Amino acid sequence: MEERRIRIFDTTLRDGEQSPGVSLTEAEKLDIARQLARLGVDVIEAGFPVNSAAEGRAVAAIAHEVRGPVICALARTHPADVAAAAEALRGAAAARIHVFTSASPVHLRHLLRKAEDEVIEASVVAVREARRFTADVEFSGQDCGRAERPFIVRLYAAAIAAGATTINIPDTVGYAQPEEFADLIRFVRSEVPGADRVAISVHTHDDLGLAVANALAGVRAGADQVECAVNGIGERAGNCSLEEVVMALATRRDLYARTTGVHTVELARTSRLVAALTGMAVPGNKAVVGANAFAHESGIHQDGVLKERTTYEIMRPEDVGLAGTRLVLGKHSGRHALRQRLEELGYHLDEAAFRRTQERLKDMAARKQEIGDRELEAIVRSESALGEEAAFRLDHLQVLSGSQLVPTATVRIVAAPGDRCLVASADGDGPVDATYRAIQRAVGASFTLVDYSLHAAAAGGDAVGEASVRVRDAGGREAIGRGASTDVIEASAQAFVGAIARLATAAPHATAAASAGATA
Ligand code: KIV
Ligand code: ZN
Repeated sequence: MEERRIRIFDTTLRDGEQSPGVSLTEAEKLDIARQLARLGVDVIEAGFPVNSAAEGRAVAAIAHEVRGPVICALARTHPADVAAAAEALRGAAAARIHVFTSASPVHLRHLLRKAEDEVIEASVVAVREARRFTADVEFSGQDCGRAERPFIVRLYAAAIAAGATTINIPDTVGYAQPEEFADLIRFVRSEVPGADRVAISVHTHDDLGLAVANALAGVRAGADQVECAVNGIGERAGNCSLEEVVMALATRRDLYARTTGVHTVELARTSRLVAALTGMAVPGNKAVVGANAFAHESGIHQDGVLKERTTYEIMRPEDVGLAGTRLVLGKHSGRHALRQRLEELGYHLDEAAFRRTQERLKDMAARKQEIGDRELEAIVRSESALGEEAAFRLDHLQVLSGSQLVPTATVRIVAAPGDRCLVASADGDGPVDATYRAIQRAVGASFTLVDYSLHAAAAGGDAVGEASVRVRDAGGREAIGRGASTDVIEASAQAFVGAIARLATAAPHATAAASAGATA
């Protein structure tokens, strides 16, 4: 059977970033984009530039710096959107503009409030306009899963005639079933005039848990490109999960006869990075990258795997990058070795962030002799989340807690500018609650803890704990903070201080909800 290459179009930074509550900074988007390039995706959809000036700047920074994948920006069929996408992509070595409209009756009637002919006309104008900037133009009609086929033919034929080079078929609301979706792709390929000259892409959502199944059905029906997001994050129930679709294609090559350019050994690291930066934890039972994806609990399974791994494993953990190395740290750990390991792990820290990371590791060497890659990553993430100019920094924490004690915490926080020391104590229902009350008292403001998670970055009682929080201020703005320490209360305190420091420097309306709500 002749094998074909499937293009992997990653939309973690656009559709994925539309996950409720997720809001990434420009630096975080760049970190993810660099890692996606290491992973070997073909296209990075970096954002929707017209959405905000900050989003435009982030797309421009990625276009300027990241090499390898094509960098793509989203645009509605509005001249201002296409212009903003073109402007943001100016620095890219290879640029794509992704123009989208809607295809279903319900979208045309209630969302666009336009007749079919008007939608086609606006699409043609926008695609032509996009082609003035780049020869690589993708076109999508949202909600094809519920669209009428005669309109799909007219809309996509017009977009191809206007210059679209990839036509994307979105099942925007995750309504389609695999056989139906495959039939739709075959229909588009055979009935849309010009479809034989362009690439066909599939974009599936997980509302019924079928995003990956539908994407794979689309591939079997002849799709050339799959749109997906790391950890399957995205609007509502999310997008097609990148790691699942890639590993399905790799593991069942016998069935699909398709290859991808993805270096699967980078999957676990990419997943961890996205989980940490978005604050969206990966469930233990998540396929491919979950903590239990290669864990065997029952005696029969353990026995089988010990005798012959393939009795209960269809993939090898090392193929998805789940085998970590350990770095031996001590007072004399070399700066060069640390820098090199960080680079190997995909972290390119500036001098200040590197120095802070090194300091943290030196402090930790007193409590812990060896540190693994995941622990190192957790420390780097908590340090880089804060940045050099952080408005608040945790300087000191003392907690009293025990079964017969009222938990009490005292904190000292250094506030910029001027390095003022803010000290306060409080009691609470537990040590973390007492700490969070003390922090709020010290900075003189109240916050709501929207989300809190804590996990061990490695096995063992002395493992580094990574805490992630989402905090809301009185104005409704939200921010994520992260902390990492062998002391989980300290990690929790760092995360909380990190989140309120970000709120202190965020633009007045740069809330997670605002940036998610105004997008595609
Ligand atoms: O789900 C969807 O329809 C989209 C489009 C913008 C492609 O995300
Ligand atoms: Zn989508």
